[in-house]
Amino acid sequence: MTGETLALVLLAAAKWITDLGIVWLVGVCAFRMISGPADDAGGPMEPPSVDRRLVRQAGCALAVLIVAAGARLYAQTWSSFGLDEPITGELARLVAGQTRWGGRWTWQVIAVGAAVPMAALVMARVPGGWLLLGAATLGVVGTAPMTGHALAHAGGPLRPMLLQILHLLAAGVWLGALFVLLSAGLGRPGASDGAAVARLVHRYSPVALTAAAVLAATGVLTAVLYIDHIPQLWQTGYGRVLLLKIGLFGLTAGLGAFNWRWVRPQLTAAGGPGRLRRSGAAELVAAAVVLAVTAWLVHLPMPHG
Ligand code: HEM
Repeated sequence: MTGETLALVLLAAAKWITDLGIVWLVGVCAFRMISGPADDAGGPMEPPSVDRRLVRQAGCALAVLIVAAGARLYAQTWSSFGLDEPITGELARLVAGQTRWGGRWTWQVIAVGAAVPMAALVMARVPGGWLLLGAATLGVVGTAPMTGHALAHAGGPLRPMLLQILHLLAAGVWLGALFVLLSAGLGRPGASDGAAVARLVHRYSPVALTAAAVLAATGVLTAVLYIDHIPQLWQTGYGRVLLLKIGLFGLTAGLGAFNWRWVRPQLTAAGGPGRLRRSGAAELVAAAVVLAVTAWLVHLPMPHG
């Protein structure tokens, strides 16, 4: 493997972990909003069973984001200097403090750092804690596209930034919330009760469908900004990876549609929740591959001048 390819692999791997963390964090907040403080039957749904799991997951997502921030700084330093010299703390500090990329990365680190005390407030059950964590999560999402192609767009950063923020939020609301639904929601006591699971899934489904539509629309609009001519889709590396991503999106959406049309109506039948757990996991694996391809895409040169 050449040095340049290795640099791309390191950068993409670190970005993949970052996006997994962001989608997870958004998913926790979205699931908290979807499930609400009480279930349809009027009984308390989260405290202590689900709410504790949710805040634990928010903490884990933030831990992933902190590790990923370190990995991205290492990868960026390696891609700048690593071909010629060993990576030292001094070089990493130079990249973080003296480069434009480092300035934007610092904002992302500040956003993640600001979310940590908010998660602690939720854990301490301070009233309004979830609202503050939700606002801090918006900060994490809002700063994420700063190190991608959006700020470099020749037509100005405003449109691609807004589109990418919506794109990431939609990914979190659909796929992050699905992960939380399958792990925290279906992992709670009484989750083998098909009727209770069905109530939760009926709340999640319309939100997920809307989020998937927003994800596709913002993805296409971003692609329209970044691709000047249709043949660039197969004539450039960026275009080919984007086509791969669109194909994988089709697979993920197809699995989601299967879950919605066939698995969901059978939730109250014997083995319904188990079936959802398995088919939902397949949808999540496909989504993780989409995120891996995206992490590669954002490090390729844009066809747009
Ligand atoms: C499962 C579905 C999808 C997921 C999870 C997903 C996720 C993401 C994420 C995390 C980013 C990076 C945002 C950032 O940090 O800057 C991104 C960027 C992007 N996505 Fe998607 N996306 C999906 C579907 C789509 C679709 C259907 C398209 C449509 C053509 C699309 C087009 C793009 C484009 C063009 C970018 C910008 C990449 C760049 O910076 O060069 N995405 N996506």
